[in-house]
Amino acid sequence: MAAITYELIRKDETTGARAGMIHTPHGSFSTPIFMPVGTQATVKGVSPDELHELGAGIILSNTYHLFLRPGMELVREAGGLHRFMHWDGAILTDSGGFQVFSLGDLRKITEEGATFRSHIDGSKQFLSPEVSMEVQKALGSDIVMAFDECIPYPADHTYAKASTERTQRWLVRCRDAMADAEGQGLFGIVQGGMYRDLRAWHAAEVTALELPGYAIGGLSVGEPHELMEEILSYTVELLPQDKPRYLMGVGTPDYLLTGVRHGIDMFDCVFPTRVARNGMAMTWTGRLVMKNAVHTHDPTVLEEGCGCYTCRNGYTRAYIRHLVRAEEIFGLRLLTLHNLYFLQEFMRRMRAAIIAGTFPAFYQDFMNHYHKK
Ligand code: GUN
Ligand code: ZN
Repeated sequence: MAAITYELIRKDETTGARAGMIHTPHGSFSTPIFMPVGTQATVKGVSPDELHELGAGIILSNTYHLFLRPGMELVREAGGLHRFMHWDGAILTDSGGFQVFSLGDLRKITEEGATFRSHIDGSKQFLSPEVSMEVQKALGSDIVMAFDECIPYPADHTYAKASTERTQRWLVRCRDAMADAEGQGLFGIVQGGMYRDLRAWHAAEVTALELPGYAIGGLSVGEPHELMEEILSYTVELLPQDKPRYLMGVGTPDYLLTGVRHGIDMFDCVFPTRVARNGMAMTWTGRLVMKNAVHTHDPTVLEEGCGCYTCRNGYTRAYIRHLVRAEEIFGLRLLTLHNLYFLQEFMRRMRAAIIAGTFPAFYQDFMNHYHKK
C-alpha cells in the first residue's frame, strides 16, 4: 500500500474545484486543506491539542530549520518529528530548497546542491537532494517534498530553463534516495517560472515519475495575481486527476479561492500565524488591525458566529486590542487561534459548497463581501 493516497469525492461542474480525501500513515484529512506552518517543530504559540481542536489534520514543517537546529540526529533519537513535537496528525516537510534560495547572496548553487551560510551562526552548510532526503527520512514526515529551486521573479527564459532542468535532475536523485523509505511519500514540484513551455515540459517530466502527489512551486513569488492565475490554471491542467495537487506558499483567502477554483487540494502559508503575531485578525470581510483606535471600546468578538476558542469564549475586540498594545503573549495567541480556525473553516465551507454543487455561488458571495485591504 502506498503511503499517501488520494480519493476524489466530487468535482465541481463549472470550475476545476474538487473535494477529496488524502490518506496518510498518520490519519486521513479532507481536501481542499490548509496546512498550518510549524517551521521549527511548533506552530508558533499553539499546542497540538489546540491544532486538533481547530480541525487541522496536517501541518507543515521545514527541513532547512530543523537541519540547522536541533539537527536531524537529535530528532531521530527522539523517535522522529511526530514524537518529538507530540503531534500525531500528518506532517509534510518542505525540502529546504525554498529557504536556502531565499538566502540571496549567502548561497551558491551547483549541480551537486546548495552551499549556504546558516542564518543562526553563519557556519557554512550544504544541502543537496540526498542530504534533504536523509534529513526528511530522519524526521519521518508523511509527505516529503523534493529538493528544488524556486525560481525568483522575474527571471529570464535562459535562467528559468537551466534551473528547471537542474531541478528535474535533482528530482530523479530525490526519487532514488527515497527508494528504500517506508511510510513516506515523495511529492514532485513543478517549476518552470512564468513560462508556459517550461511548465509544460516540467509537468510532463515530473508526472512521468508516477509519484504519490505533485506540487506547483515558484508561484506567489511577487508576480501579479493575473499572471499567477494564468500559470496556475495552465499547469494544473497538466497534472493527473488521481493524485493530490499542492500549491506551495499560498494562504491568503483570495488566493486560496483561486487555487481551489482551479483544482488545487493542498495549501500552506505563514500568513495566518504571521499576521496574528502582527496584531491582525482575519475575517470574512477582510483583515482587522487590532491596534486601531476603532476597537478601543468595542465589546464584540472578532467575528460574530465564529467557532474558534477566542470568539466562542467571548474575548472582545477591546480586550484583544489592549493585549496587543501591551505586547502580551496571550493576545497574539488569541489571534493565532482565531486566524487558524478561520482558514480551516474557510476550507471546510469551500469543500461543503463543492459537494453541494454550489461552489460558483460561494465564490461570488465571498468576493462580494471580502475586502483585500
Ligand atoms: N514554498 C513556496 N514555494 C516553494 C517552491 O517553489 N519550492 C519549495 N520547495 N517550497 C516552496
Ligand atoms: Zn474566532
